[in-house]
Amino acid sequence: MKEKLDSILREAQQIYYQIKNSDELENFRIKFLGRNGLLSQLSENFKHLTEEEKKEIGKYFNFVKQEILKLYSEKKELLTKKEKIIFDFSHPGSQIKLGKKHIINQEIETIQKIFFTLGFNIEEGREIVTENENFDSLNILANHPSRDLWDTFWLNKKSYLLRTHTSAHQVEYLKKYNVPTKFVIIGKVYRHEATDQRHEMQFHQIEGVSVGNGSNLGELKSVLKIFFENYFEKKNLEIIFRTSYFPFTEPSLEIDLVCIICNGRGCNLCKKSGYLEVAGAGMIHPFVLQQAKIDIKKYYGYAFGLGLERLIMLKYDIPDVRLFNSLDLRFINQF
Ligand code: DAH
Repeated sequence: MKEKLDSILREAQQIYYQIKNSDELENFRIKFLGRNGLLSQLSENFKHLTEEEKKEIGKYFNFVKQEILKLYSEKKELLTKKEKIIFDFSHPGSQIKLGKKHIINQEIETIQKIFFTLGFNIEEGREIVTENENFDSLNILANHPSRDLWDTFWLNKKSYLLRTHTSAHQVEYLKKYNVPTKFVIIGKVYRHEATDQRHEMQFHQIEGVSVGNGSNLGELKSVLKIFFENYFEKKNLEIIFRTSYFPFTEPSLEIDLVCIICNGRGCNLCKKSGYLEVAGAGMIHPFVLQQAKIDIKKYYGYAFGLGLERLIMLKYDIPDVRLFNSLDLRFINQF
């Protein structure tokens, strides 16, 4: 009987190493320790033993039973720990959707690079400015009808507003950089206007300013020509100056680009006119230079203002400015 007990213990020890989960452990318990398990079956034979043998074998029987119980509870502890920290390293995991830069920000970077190469400092300015920065310092005086050109979002705090144009920073950066200097300001501007295909109440402008001895209309023309040729990735683009009016430039100009699609012959993009209106510009008004404490006998300069969304719409043939802020992924993911 002792041999029998030995072989039961050996078998239990072997199986012990193969148990991988709680079902197998339960089978182990039933097989060795269960009511009809191997040990119980063996204890049936006790009745055939003498008192002396019973004592001896009984002791050994209890030893084997204890050993098997130990195996059982050891394995049980191991399995519950393992089940708690189970982590399947081969599981594919959920896909992380990476975001990307919005088309507007992609284009801003392209434009910043072109102007940087042309020797312009790059600025953003702030979206909240004072009445003085946005209007007075630019010769747009209170109660003057020209203020109506810019429908304004006024803030509760008197004399603060959401900038209606990036021109609001001309004087500030002229002071910061000292003349001669060149800089562009690219950022959001706001207009208190109804929206439609071509108008948004929030859009972006690119403001260019150059003050110094060579900052004349000839330089303005070549700077813009190089800019447009690089931005639209087209050679030999032609620029047309038309006279216009802005309170902060004298003379003032409206700048047209000979249509980048039809070369002036007339097409849908240019509405058969042959030209695309792309910028306002002019020689900076002496009043503005004086606000920046610049000696107007020594220095002069030009400024220009471009609408960013308009340029992007021309470049990619986008029909409606409202798409930019639509959050429509079908639109955004195209770029
Ligand atoms: N600030 C003007 C606007 O928003 C655009 C503009 C016109 C900017 C002429 C300029 C300029 O710098 O010289 O309508």
